[in-house]
Amino acid sequence: MYITEIKQGIHYVGVNDRTKHRFEGLWSLPYGVSYNSYLVVDDKVALIDTVDEAFASRFMSNIDEVLQGREIDYLVVNHMEADHSAAMATLRMRYPRMQIVGNAKTLQMIEGFYGITDNTLCIKEGESLSLGGRTLQFYMAPMVHWPEVMVTYCPEQRVLFSADAFGTFGTLDGGILDTQLALDHFWDEMVRYYACIVGKYGKPVQAALKKLGGLDIEMICSTHGPVWTRDIAKVIGIYDRLSRYQAEPGVVIAYGSMYGNTEQMAERIARTLAACGVSRIRLHNLSSADMSAVLRDIFDYDTLIVGSPTYNGELFPEVESLLSKIVARGIPQRRFAAFGSFCWAGAAVKRIVDTAERLGWTVLCPAVEMKQGYSPSVEQQCDELARSVAADMQ
Ligand code: FEO
Repeated sequence: MYITEIKQGIHYVGVNDRTKHRFEGLWSLPYGVSYNSYLVVDDKVALIDTVDEAFASRFMSNIDEVLQGREIDYLVVNHMEADHSAAMATLRMRYPRMQIVGNAKTLQMIEGFYGITDNTLCIKEGESLSLGGRTLQFYMAPMVHWPEVMVTYCPEQRVLFSADAFGTFGTLDGGILDTQLALDHFWDEMVRYYACIVGKYGKPVQAALKKLGGLDIEMICSTHGPVWTRDIAKVIGIYDRLSRYQAEPGVVIAYGSMYGNTEQMAERIARTLAACGVSRIRLHNLSSADMSAVLRDIFDYDTLIVGSPTYNGELFPEVESLLSKIVARGIPQRRFAAFGSFCWAGAAVKRIVDTAERLGWTVLCPAVEMKQGYSPSVEQQCDELARSVAADMQ
């Protein structure tokens, strides 16, 4: 028994990345990330996806350890983003007879990224490939999270190789299966991963969930994070909720503040919310907050309150950055309120409310706009805003 054999004849050959600071150059990795790849060893040998190029050497060693000199017959490419495809060219040099399997979009991208055009096999929706005792069936899952994405299902062992779907940030520290790992941080990391990476693609994720709903699945092998066995229902439930943009009761207060005046408003609103019985409150000062954690919380909670000073006659830049990320993800509904400040001419509050209205969100109460410094009258308006939000939650 190999220690990386996760099911008979199926081996985990992925790697952990604890050195990258930001995934896609954007999103923090406090727990690192794994790039998962799987070998299916039968009469024929298939490798499902590869890893980030920086880990190609370690990846080759993992494969060698399992194959002991056997060849790879097929490389199945479920997803072309470089964290899963970049070791392909190195792999092809090592296994020149290996046939690369993908759909038409995949093969076009393989040519575009790596200049590979030979010894490829183009497959379509529902087609399958026999490895001997096992079969690999292919289902297209476009825009989860690129247009070429597909998933691969092995019916004999009821294993779904799901590409990014059901993935999460976080390295696999020893264990590979969910039953071998302490999962505590993975649940938050799954929401953060979804919000940052897949968050724009709710409808395609819903379509994929419907399409895969008929499959009998005993194991989900995603390209990131644990292999799911025991917790399959929970993981599908999380992806289902997030892709419907459904959130739980709770308030995110996200604000910018240069000298603390707008922050004072945020603190007062939070205190009053708590006094009204709201306990799930997350405050983010956007100058120092981890943007990926803010997005995670906005996907988790159903109410968002945004505050901004007016800066150069516009929104505070970090607030603008958050709003643009929300718009890009097309979050269709949140309960909403706004506050902000200005010194000589107000602009920020109007911009925030305009954005919420463009998104079709429910604006719960008039925004609070503070001229210059914090005062008893501003405090009272903040209390009123918080009370309106709390009353609506009840
Ligand atoms: Fe993990 Fe879309 O790549």
